[in-house]
Amino acid sequence: MPNQIRIAVSKGRIYKQALPLLAQADVEPLDDPETSRKLILDTSDPDIKLVIIRATDVPAYVAYGGADMGVAGKDVLLENERLPVYEPLDLGIARCRMSVAGLPESRPLGRRMRIATKYVNSARKYFASQGLQVEIIKLYGSMELAPVLGLADAIVDLVDTGATLMANGLVEKAHIMDISSRLVVNKASMKTKHARMSQLIEDIKQAVEVEQ
Ligand code: ATP
Ligand code: PRP
Repeated sequence: MPNQIRIAVSKGRIYKQALPLLAQADVEPLDDPETSRKLILDTSDPDIKLVIIRATDVPAYVAYGGADMGVAGKDVLLENERLPVYEPLDLGIARCRMSVAGLPESRPLGRRMRIATKYVNSARKYFASQGLQVEIIKLYGSMELAPVLGLADAIVDLVDTGATLMANGLVEKAHIMDISSRLVVNKASMKTKHARMSQLIEDIKQAVEVEQ
């Protein structure tokens, strides 16, 4: 399938927010991943397929050529820095921020603190940049519980409206970085399917400019 282009996207917010951008690039899925069990979706362009995978798996699929391109949050890309992909476009979707959060009455961020997070790489780099040596506990979800149950002094997690922190009695202690989703591209595909890939990236870029 030398002319086929596979685009990896995750279900949920990335899929929903990428859809209008893809539509402006004339790529419209023929199935809805929320109702279909299919993991490879045909689109209005017979040469373009959407591959539905977990958000955290997008960099691996794109780096190893399972997909030619994909959409991944900057948070996920920073945890997979060693996987070689091009990152040609900030799509400006799935916007949020990465923050340190904890109980309101907890002591200020300091050395030897225990930090629970899914974002081990980013957390380690952030605390190192602050000159703080911390112990990091890797979790896979429900990070907000960690300070509440005494597992950690603070967490590093994503925050958008702040509703999840508030519902669990936590407050933001520090802003680490703003996050949005990026278009990532397989390096080999960029060479072997150059004309089609460049055109698609250009079309998506124009769609992003229209949306902003
Ligand atoms: P996985 O299923 O692989 O564990 P996930 O549950 O984090 O991933 P989503 O919740 O769909 O997947 O999040 C996908 C991306 O959307 C994240 O990587 C992040 O960049 C962004 N994101 C996460 N939470 C929010 C939020 N509350 N508001 C806006 N964007 C968010
Ligand atoms: C993300 C993130 C926070 C929440 C923040 O979770 O991990 O828990 O959003 O958003 P808020 O500030 O608007 O409350 P998500 O909704 O993706 O759930 P999941 O990580 O469990 O999939």
